[in-house]
Amino acid sequence: MLNHHKEDTIESVLKEKRIIHPPSTFSANARIKSFQDYEKLYQESISDSENFWGNLAEKELHWFNKWDRVLEWDPPHAKWFLNGKLNITYNCIDRHLTSSRRNKPAIVWEGEPGDSRTLTYEELHVEVCKFANVLKQLKVTKGDCVAIYMPMIPEAIIAMLACARIGSVHTVIFGGFSAESLKDRLKDSQAKILVTADGGFRKDKIISLKSQVDIALKNNSSIVEKVVVVKRTSESIAMEHGRDYWLHDLQQDISDNCPPEIMDSEDALFILYTSGSTGKPKGVVHTIGGYSLYTHITTKWIFDIQDTDTYWCTADIGWITGHSYGVYGPLSNGATSLFYEGVPRPSNPGCFWDIIERYKVNIFYTAPTAIRSFIKMGDDIPKKFNLSSLRLLGTVGEPINPEVWMWYYEIIGNEKCPIVDTWWQTETGGVMITSLPGAISSKPGSASLPFPGIVPDIVDKNGDNVPDNTGGLLIIKNPWPSMLRNIHGDRQRFEENYWNSLSKKSDEHIYFSGDSARRDSDGYFWILGRTDDVMNISGHRLGSMELESALVSHQAVNEASVVGKPHEIKGEDIYAFVTLNNGFEATNELISELKQHVVQEIGAIARPGTIQFTRELPKTRSGKIVRRFLRQIAANQNIKGDRSTIVNPDILDELKEQAQLHN
Ligand code: WTA
Repeated sequence: MLNHHKEDTIESVLKEKRIIHPPSTFSANARIKSFQDYEKLYQESISDSENFWGNLAEKELHWFNKWDRVLEWDPPHAKWFLNGKLNITYNCIDRHLTSSRRNKPAIVWEGEPGDSRTLTYEELHVEVCKFANVLKQLKVTKGDCVAIYMPMIPEAIIAMLACARIGSVHTVIFGGFSAESLKDRLKDSQAKILVTADGGFRKDKIISLKSQVDIALKNNSSIVEKVVVVKRTSESIAMEHGRDYWLHDLQQDISDNCPPEIMDSEDALFILYTSGSTGKPKGVVHTIGGYSLYTHITTKWIFDIQDTDTYWCTADIGWITGHSYGVYGPLSNGATSLFYEGVPRPSNPGCFWDIIERYKVNIFYTAPTAIRSFIKMGDDIPKKFNLSSLRLLGTVGEPINPEVWMWYYEIIGNEKCPIVDTWWQTETGGVMITSLPGAISSKPGSASLPFPGIVPDIVDKNGDNVPDNTGGLLIIKNPWPSMLRNIHGDRQRFEENYWNSLSKKSDEHIYFSGDSARRDSDGYFWILGRTDDVMNISGHRLGSMELESALVSHQAVNEASVVGKPHEIKGEDIYAFVTLNNGFEATNELISELKQHVVQEIGAIARPGTIQFTRELPKTRSGKIVRRFLRQIAANQNIKGDRSTIVNPDILDELKEQAQLHN
């Protein structure tokens, strides 16, 4: 039985004593072969960090012009590789064309209906250049923003790279987001062009992306100028004259020659929206130089990709994991990166293992929520497949329960594959805490140790250190190359959210992750979860406020408060407490309607698991809703804590009593 109550997880990881050492055969061939090598590297990276990053940048990347300085740190604003000139697509594509990698598959793709496509580095080069020329033809220039709202098809990756090729800034919007979410992101990013598809295949259904686009753009001529549509499903769709263009039409007679634009290291590469604890999702801005280096080197050392490996990261390109470890990191290393359009579904629960068998995948990177759903489906499904090609496994996105880790290790990895549990965030651009598969032993449930160059620490809310084995706030003390540079259009939010959050030591400028963690006496980090009002639903970040705004935008809802409830598969599920406006009745129909309303406002990933109606919400004297108590009620726990802070303490028992009906 899986155990996912937050408190139980903390308990169980405190008791966790197992240590799994890297297999000696793995270490012998790994890039970083021993703990001593890691320690040496780490020491070097800290004692002279500019030298460390400078040497790597010189050795690992191609620059049109070398930088003048490695780092300018004017907290919290960092510039890396000042005046360095490069293009990430040169590093991800062109430089591989002069070696035998030219004919090596860069992208191996399979669609949900079973169609497939492989693009060698040479072919990828042609496609990216053609797409880049289409963008140029549409008058996209350096610095313009291009939005990408696509299913997981090769053109989505090609579109990202095409943007980077000509120096435009991409913002990928997850294809599962609704028209409303799409509209918000298009507005905020001021995207000039939107790249989409007629649809995509997901869970045996056709997702009609273009109709969402049409809703988002309706009566909003000021948002995007032109829409480029890729044919995927061949469903009939509406095309607006003068606004919508088929990619295949635009590509007729287009040149496949497009030299990479010379970009400055600190030019923006992309904006990616992610949920925070307040307001609307924020556009995290990453810049080219530091991001190129950090994703390259983390991919190389953490995933230990060798030239013959087939590597598969299951994340959608709509998330940071897809950006850093599906596209940029692997391609920069000249790897073969596999992409799959679909997800495990009742008609094909073994599809992941089937793909691993057929494509002989060597490195597999996925999320704990997926692993938990596989456990639930039973061991006999993966056991039907030949998974012997696997040599390394990884996880990302949420804490992995030690028992889930062991299952992954035993059933999928056959006790021969190291597992890297990688902790990081959209904001960090790349992995910050992880084991290195040939060098660092794993403790199931712990993300292990900092990557070279990274100095994490655990502090209390005043910024003071906490003793080992005590939980506290996870912070990063130094700048790193792929750190976020800004929140698009909101410098103040960037400064306040991440750097000035600790009351006492705001002058120190440490990066505040929003996660809590504990460090054990071996220095291993154990991530405990978010400390803010951000939930992690199946590895996807969603802010309580976003969900509350979505609910309140329904005419029946007066007030809403949303918390996470522990969930066996999803990690957390959405639990909403709702008060109604006069004239509306608390019915099951209304519950369904509200759930559907949230899906419409945000997307299917935001569908609340539970909606509980109430006459009042627990509030402080100043009218602030106290989510802490609601979290306990949603988790079916006893109500703990000082009730005197709220004006209406009686409501707690009433809520608890009614909650029994939902649990
Ligand atoms: C959580 C995903 C525990 C964490 C790359 C973080 C994790 C948030 C881990 C970022 C991990 C990510 N163990 N928790 N290995 N990796 N998280 O921005 O709460 O989508 O703050 O980036 O996911 O989510 P994001």
